[in-house]
Amino acid sequence: MSVIAIIGAQWGDEGKGKIVDLLSEKAKAVVRYSGGDNAGHTVINPYGEFKLHLVPSGIFHKGVACIIGNGVAVNPAILLEEINNLQKHDVDTRNFFISDRAHLIMPYHTLFDGLEEERRGQGAIGTTRKGIGPVFADKIARLGIRTCDLLNKNGFRSRLSQVLENKNAILTKIYNVSPLSLEDIYQQYLSYAERLAPFIRNTGPIIRDIIAAKQAVILEGAQGTMLDPDFGTYPYVTSSSPIASGSCTGSGINIGQISHVIGVFKAYTTRVGGGPMPTELKDKIGDFIRERANEYGATTGRPRRCGWFDAVAGCYSTQINGFTGIALTRLDVLDALDSIKICTAYELDGKILKDFPCDIDVLAKCKPAYEELQGWRIPTNDIRQYRQLPSQARRYVRRLEELLSCPISIISVGANREQSIIAKQII
Ligand code: GDP
Ligand code: IMO
Ligand code: MG
Repeated sequence: MSVIAIIGAQWGDEGKGKIVDLLSEKAKAVVRYSGGDNAGHTVINPYGEFKLHLVPSGIFHKGVACIIGNGVAVNPAILLEEINNLQKHDVDTRNFFISDRAHLIMPYHTLFDGLEEERRGQGAIGTTRKGIGPVFADKIARLGIRTCDLLNKNGFRSRLSQVLENKNAILTKIYNVSPLSLEDIYQQYLSYAERLAPFIRNTGPIIRDIIAAKQAVILEGAQGTMLDPDFGTYPYVTSSSPIASGSCTGSGINIGQISHVIGVFKAYTTRVGGGPMPTELKDKIGDFIRERANEYGATTGRPRRCGWFDAVAGCYSTQINGFTGIALTRLDVLDALDSIKICTAYELDGKILKDFPCDIDVLAKCKPAYEELQGWRIPTNDIRQYRQLPSQARRYVRRLEELLSCPISIISVGANREQSIIAKQII
C-alpha cells in the first residue's frame, strides 16, 4: 500500500478537502501536516456539508485514523467547536488524534496577527488573522507552547508565565495595548486541556506502524505551493510549509516512504488576500467565474480573486513538489465559457521569462502570454467517465497535462464526493 501526499498546487482552496474525502475510503490514516485554522476544507458527502479547519478530511470514513500532525498549529477553541459539530452530525471521532508536538495558538498570536496587519496598512498581507504568522514565528524562536504542555499543569503554567512576560512587554511597549492576564489564559487553556487530553498522542509511531503494515496513509496539505514561505510569492505567503517536503516534516515520516504526490489544481486560478497574481481577471469574466463558482473564502468569506490557469506557476509548482499525478478540480465551472485561456509564458520587457521570478515586484510586472482553447458549453457535472467528457474538455485536460508534464489522475466535476472522474487509479 502507499503513502499519498495531497498538495495544494496553486494559492490554496484548490479543493483538497474534496479530494482527500474521496480518496480516504481506501486509507487507514489521514494526517494534516501544516497550517492551522487558516485552512478551510470543504467536504460535501452523505453526512452534509462541512468546512473543516483542523480535523483531517478523512474523518467521515469509519476506521480511518485522522491525525493532526506535529506540523499543524492548533487553536483549541476552534478545534473543540469543530469536534462538537462533527459529533452533532453523528460523525465518529473515536479515531481522531492530535500530535503531542503540535504547537498551540494562544490568544496573543491572534492579537499580534491583527495588530501587525493594521500596522502594515496598505501593504497588509491579507492574512486570515488566525495567528498563523505569530505562532510559527514563536515555534522557530523557541517560544512556542505545545499540546504536550497542556498535559503538565505546573510545567504549562511556568512556560506560559515566561512567554507571556515577553509578549506583554511587546503588547504594552510597542503596540500600546493592555497586557494579557496570565491567570485568565491559564484557566482557559486548562479547560481546553481537559477536553483535548483524550486525543493527544505521540502520533509519529501510529503513522509509522500503519505504513509498516502496508496500509494506505494520506498526508493532507493545507494552503498551496505559491503560499510557501520559501518558494511562494514572499512576503505574501503563509508561515508553514504546504509543499510535499513539508508533509514529511509535519507528520514525522521519511521522504522515502512517500509513494505518490498528487497536486490539486483548480481548472483556473484563484487567490485570496494580497500579493501578485499574473493571470487575475479584473473584468466581467473574472466576476462571472467568481459568481458561478461561488468563489468566496471558506474561512473568512472574502471574495477570491479569479483568473485563467497559470501554467508557468503550475510548472514551477510541479517541479518543486515532484507531482506524480494531478487532481484537477472545478472543471465544470468552465462549462459555461465559449473560450478558455491558459497562460503559457510570462513576458517581461519584451522578453520571455524562463523561471518563476523570486521578486514580487518583477512578478507584478510580468504580462501573461495566453493560448486560447475552445470551450465546450455542455454540462459536465453528471459525467463519471473520462471518455464521456466533451472532446473540447478532453483537449483542455490533455493540454494541461502536456504543459505540466504530469498525468491528470482525477478530474472533479462538482463539489460532491461522487462528482469525480478517476482517470488513473491512485490507491
Ligand atoms: P480546499 O481548501 O483546497 O479544501 O478548498 P476549499 O474548500 O476552500 O474550496 C474549494 C471549493 O470548491 C469548495 O467550495 C468545494 O465545495 C468546491 N469544489 C471542489 N471541487 C469542485 C468541483 O469539481 N466543482 C465545483 N463546482 N466545486 C468544487
Ligand atoms: P486552504 O487550506 C487560501 C492565505 C491568506 C493570506 C496568506 C497568509 O483552505 O487552501 P495566513 O493567515 O496564513 O497568515 O495568511 O495566505 N491563505 C490561504 N488562502 N487557502 C488557504 O487555505 C489559505 N490559508 C492562508 O489569505 O493571503
Ligand atoms: Mg480552503
